Amino acid sequence: MESFYYDYFSERTNTLKAGGNYRTFLTLQKSATTFPVIEFLDTDEVVHTAVNWCSNDYMNMSVSDVVICRAQEIITESGLGSGGTRNISGTTLHHRQLEKAIAHLHHKESALVFNGAFLANQTTLATLGITFDNAVFLSDERNHASIITGMQASKRTKLIFKHNSADHLRQLLQALPLEQPKIIVCESVYSMTGSIAPLSAFADLAQKYNALLYVDEVHAVGVYGTQGEGLAGEQGCEAGIHVINGTLAKAFGTLGGYIAANHTITEFVRSFAPGFIFTTSLPPALCAASVASIEYITANEQLRPTYHHHVARLRYFLRERRIPFEENPSHITPVLIGDTERCKALSHKLLYQYGIYVQPINYPTVRRGEECLRLTLTLRHTEEQMQYLADSLAAVLFTAL
Ligand SMILES: Cc1ncc(COP(=O)(O)O)c(C=O)c1O
Repeated sequence: MESFYYDYFSERTNTLKAGGNYRTFLTLQKSATTFPVIEFLDTDEVVHTAVNWCSNDYMNMSVSDVVICRAQEIITESGLGSGGTRNISGTTLHHRQLEKAIAHLHHKESALVFNGAFLANQTTLATLGITFDNAVFLSDERNHASIITGMQASKRTKLIFKHNSADHLRQLLQALPLEQPKIIVCESVYSMTGSIAPLSAFADLAQKYNALLYVDEVHAVGVYGTQGEGLAGEQGCEAGIHVINGTLAKAFGTLGGYIAANHTITEFVRSFAPGFIFTTSLPPALCAASVASIEYITANEQLRPTYHHHVARLRYFLRERRIPFEENPSHITPVLIGDTERCKALSHKLLYQYGIYVQPINYPTVRRGEECLRLTLTLRHTEEQMQYLADSLAAVLFTAL
C-alpha cells in the first residue's frame, strides 16, 4: 500500500525531470574573503572555482566585518538559538531593536520580524484576507509565489491586474463598491524581470478607492532610496503604502523577513498571524547582525550610487558585446534565452568551461518562453570580472553548443 504513495511521488518528480524543470543545486564553498569568487563541487566531488553572478547579496553585507563581528559577539554572549516563539521566551532585546530599526528605516510606526520574507508575505496576506469575509485582493500578474500562496490561503476573491498597469488597476477598483475591503498587492522591483512598479500611482489609487496597499520591497531594500529604504522612499510615497514587506536576506546579508506598518496593523498581525505566532523566533545574534547591517547601509549613502554605477558598467560591457539583455530600470539584468534546455546547457557550459556561475531560471520561476540567465552583481565584482563575463557570454551565446 505504501508503494502507492511512493510511486505517485516518483512519477511526479519524473514528469518534472522529463519537462526539463527538475532543479539541481550546486554545492558551494563560500568564502567571506574571496566572495564573489567561490568554490563548488561537481558530481564527483571535485572542487572547481567560479565567480558567482547570481547572488542576491547585492551589497556584500553577508561577508562584511560589520555583520560577521556583530554576529560573533552576540553568539558568544547569548548562544545561537532563541529557544522559543516570540510569545514564549523568544523575544530578546535584539528582536526589539531590530523591529525598531526596520520601522525607522521605512518611516513607519512599527515593524514585525518573521523567519523570512516568504513567510511574512504568506502569513500576513492570508491573515489580512481572512479577517474580512468579503475582502478582494487586487494582485499584479507577476507577483511572487509567497504573495500568491498567502492570498490563496485566505480563500478570498483575487482580481489580477496587468503588470505594473495603474490604468488596469483603476478599472478594477472602479467596479468595486467603495466600502468593500480591498487589498492591492504588488512588488516594487520584480525579482526576475527587474521591472519597477509605479508605486506613487498605486498609492493614489489606494487612497481614492479606499483600499489597503501592500508592497513587497524585497529586492529594493538596501538598494534604492537615499538610506536604502527602498523604492517607495525613492518615489516619495512611503506614507501612502500601508504595509511594506522586506527581507534581511538579500542586500542586508543576513536572514529573516519583515513587515513595516502603522501600529494598528502590526498589532493585528502580531496577534492573529499563525506564521508569526507559532514558530521559533530568529536567533538573537542574527537580529543583532541585521541591526548592524541596516545601520551601516543607512549611514553609508554612497553605497547606492556606487552600486548603480557598477550595474551601468556591467550593462555597458554587455551592450558592447551585443549580449541581448532586458533593458529594465533596475539592478537585475536578465539575459533572455527562451528555452529550458538551452538555458541549462548555457549555464553548464559557462560554469565548467568559463568559471562563471549563473543559475538557469526556468519555469515555474518564470513563464515558459521567458527562461533566462539572471545576472546580479555585487559591490565586490570588479570591472575585469564584468568584462570576462561579457566575453564569456558572447562566446557561448554566439557559437553552437
Ligand atoms: C519578491 C520576493 N518576495 C519574497 C521573497 C522571499 O524572501 P526570503 O528569502 O526572505 O524568504 C523573495 C525571495 O527570493 C522574493 O524574490
